[in-house]
Amino acid sequence: MSDYETFTHDVLVIGAGGAGLRAAIEASAAGVKVGMVCKSLLGKAHTVMAEGGIAAALANVDDRDNWQVHFADTMRGGQYVNNWRMAELHAREAPARVRELESWGAVFDRTKDGRILQRNFGGHKYPRLAHVGDRTGLEMIRTLQDHGIHEGIDVHMEHTILSLLKQGDRVVGAFGYDRERGRFKIFRAKAIVLATGGIGRAFKITSNSWEYTGDGHSLGYHAGAELIDMEFIQFHPTGMVWPPSVRGILVTEGVRGEGGILTNKEGSRFMFDDIPDNYRAQTAADPEEGWRYCQGDKNARRPPELLTRDHVARCIVREIKAGRGSPHGGVFLDIAWIKSKLSNGEEYIKRKLPSMYHQFKQLADIDITEEPMEVGPTTHYVMGGIRVDADTQMSRVPGLFAAGECAAGINGANRLGGNSLSDLLVFGKRAGEFAAKFSLQNSLGEVHPDRLDESARQALEPFARDTRAGEGPYQVQKDLQEMMQDKVGIVRREDEMRAAIEGLSELARRAGRVGLEGNREFNPGWHTALDLPNLLTVSEAVTRAALERQESRGAQFREDYPEKSAEFAKVNTVIWQGEDGRMQIRRDAIPEMRNDLKQVIEEMG
Ligand code: FUM
Repeated sequence: MSDYETFTHDVLVIGAGGAGLRAAIEASAAGVKVGMVCKSLLGKAHTVMAEGGIAAALANVDDRDNWQVHFADTMRGGQYVNNWRMAELHAREAPARVRELESWGAVFDRTKDGRILQRNFGGHKYPRLAHVGDRTGLEMIRTLQDHGIHEGIDVHMEHTILSLLKQGDRVVGAFGYDRERGRFKIFRAKAIVLATGGIGRAFKITSNSWEYTGDGHSLGYHAGAELIDMEFIQFHPTGMVWPPSVRGILVTEGVRGEGGILTNKEGSRFMFDDIPDNYRAQTAADPEEGWRYCQGDKNARRPPELLTRDHVARCIVREIKAGRGSPHGGVFLDIAWIKSKLSNGEEYIKRKLPSMYHQFKQLADIDITEEPMEVGPTTHYVMGGIRVDADTQMSRVPGLFAAGECAAGINGANRLGGNSLSDLLVFGKRAGEFAAKFSLQNSLGEVHPDRLDESARQALEPFARDTRAGEGPYQVQKDLQEMMQDKVGIVRREDEMRAAIEGLSELARRAGRVGLEGNREFNPGWHTALDLPNLLTVSEAVTRAALERQESRGAQFREDYPEKSAEFAKVNTVIWQGEDGRMQIRRDAIPEMRNDLKQVIEEMG
């Protein structure tokens, strides 16, 4: 065996966003030795892109809120294919996790009487999002990081994990490399928590930055874990559309929570044209009522801009396709209009949405206190991921845990905005707790040298290929992203997705011919080449699951099956790697919900 540098931890956390940090803090507090690997610099995580708030039924702004309403909202938002036990734990535990974050130093916006302020967001019945202007995710990461560094966690920054190591069924470590020098490293561990976030980089237009190539999904899959519900990709309705260099960057739902309205080029508030039956009773029938709701009138109903993200994104696509879009292929999002309602409107916008103000000023030369923004859907989040036990977050692979976006279950077919930050806290904590327990009950396993050498050999293969005859990694990545966007995007059809499956086989062949110049030191082309297998794995999983679910539900819209179907109402799609190495798929029935929870949903209407 080559002489690889080796680190030994009880618990290894892969990923250092909200879920990874929270898991590491919890495991460390249990007294075990914790290591954390992050692909980028510590603190640079997609968590910061959850800008508008953390959903938790604190009932600070509306005392009618409680965990039961939050649970019912989450289930309805997810169109009832959620893991109901996860939705229950999440709704029950989110308030305690937010208060804990506050006690660790998070500086929330405040109500007049000094409590944590909460704002409206799509699909949440009451103002529920604890926030810090429009920088909530950033404040969460800052707080967890500050707290975490005092817990004695070993942080391995700018490292990528290439494979998980197993002894029999169990995980015993991970093999990776440092991105600066390209040196291979072994991380031995008794338990591993995957917290690598999402797969946004499998699509062309995305709010995700370069790190989000589905690494945890793919590592878990190849180690024997199951992936569920991979068809459900969340296209956030509002990303920037102009200029092209910033296309996809998130425009927080907080803009709509504070009263922002969506209009088409004819000036019409098109969201009023299409209110789904299951939301009709809760949705304002006229703009005045919607505005009163945003101002905290408890008797008013929410404006249709605050319907769930899947629905708003589809309405925007409909407007653009019908030729009623904005000049650069989006629609208009107007917050400046509130100046006609509030004497201090300009100051209010800058105070509530400081990042949006600066983002548009600096990147698009638009003053959002004066003119509307142009926005369109952007790939933001994957509801699908590694199947885990609801209480412990362990996958079916002993010792392998997952939390946050790379795990699945809580969100069902569509996640409500703000539920991601609370998910990271609730299930990050649980993953850390149970991974620590597992590590205390198990000894270190053996690492097989052959497996490491084989993994290293595969990683270095592109350097041995002829760069003139081969492929460049960036072109393969770009072609994959364009194909996924076009053929497995917001609106899907069987023929296009079948073509995507063939396209992915061809892209896999091309990825196998990628050749590289230079050496492994400071070589971004090499990193991109190593991301390709993960992107191919998750893209295939998304496409196969989307083909399997022959209906439209939540974030999956099938033009060829535009309605919900009873056949799929109570099933998860499940993907795993077969003995022959090929991707397998089946449908699993969702276990019957507990009666007390059924009753909660019935009572909420
Ligand atoms: O729009 C937003 O601020 C995003 C929040 C989220 O994805 O939870």
